[in-house]
Amino acid sequence: MKFGIIGGSGLARLAELRDARRQVVRTPWGDPSCPLTHGTLDGVDLVFLARHGYGHTLAPHEINYRANIWALKQTGVDGVVSVATVGGIRDDFGPGTLVLPDQIIDYTTGRCCTFFEGPGQPVVHVDFTWPYDDQVRGLLARAAQDLGETMVPSGVYGCTQGPRLETAAEIRMMERDGCDLVGMTGMPEAVLARELGLPYAALAVVANHAAGKGDSSREVSLDAITLAVEQAMVRVRAILSEFVRL
Ligand code: HPA
Repeated sequence: MKFGIIGGSGLARLAELRDARRQVVRTPWGDPSCPLTHGTLDGVDLVFLARHGYGHTLAPHEINYRANIWALKQTGVDGVVSVATVGGIRDDFGPGTLVLPDQIIDYTTGRCCTFFEGPGQPVVHVDFTWPYDDQVRGLLARAAQDLGETMVPSGVYGCTQGPRLETAAEIRMMERDGCDLVGMTGMPEAVLARELGLPYAALAVVANHAAGKGDSSREVSLDAITLAVEQAMVRVRAILSEFVRL
């Protein structure tokens, strides 16, 4: 399989890519976050896209998710791996925890969330019972295992609108809803991949305890988030290199 990798906060480039070449892609839905980068990782072809743009210029609600997924599909990838930075809602999900989510709850509003709208488009209701692809999740789990990395094999990702972080009460509500993780970019990315028939999985990297969690008297520190993400991405890069070889 040839994979598209969508890098989130802290993963705007895959420096390990060899023979990298950029491709500007236009889609019927507008422009993706940035040009796609084609290259090889350990001899395996892949396509990389920085979700927030190469200079991290797009906030979660400004991302053209439709253009991103369409562009990747257009390049002929067979699947998509999304690297997603998240807050940990479960008490044991502290900074540096790696999780393979298996469910999503969507709290976003006003995002363009389907390709099936507008003149001439049929009304389509895709099945989304299991939002993440099991085969891709299995490969990610195996890559982590091969490297001796611990990766939590399941979790519920709650997607908020952002760009602000959540209140402590919102996180308590999300916890009651069954969310284990909170991020801002998981939707509609996952459902758009499903609509185009692209197997999709996410590798969630916990950067911080969500608001009111951990040491609950403290505010969420953006400096601490940046540091945790930087450290975790070294491990994520190794997992991705192993993943594409499997
Ligand atoms: N909330 C939402 N998105 C995030 C967080 C958070 O606490 N940390 C990293 N992405």
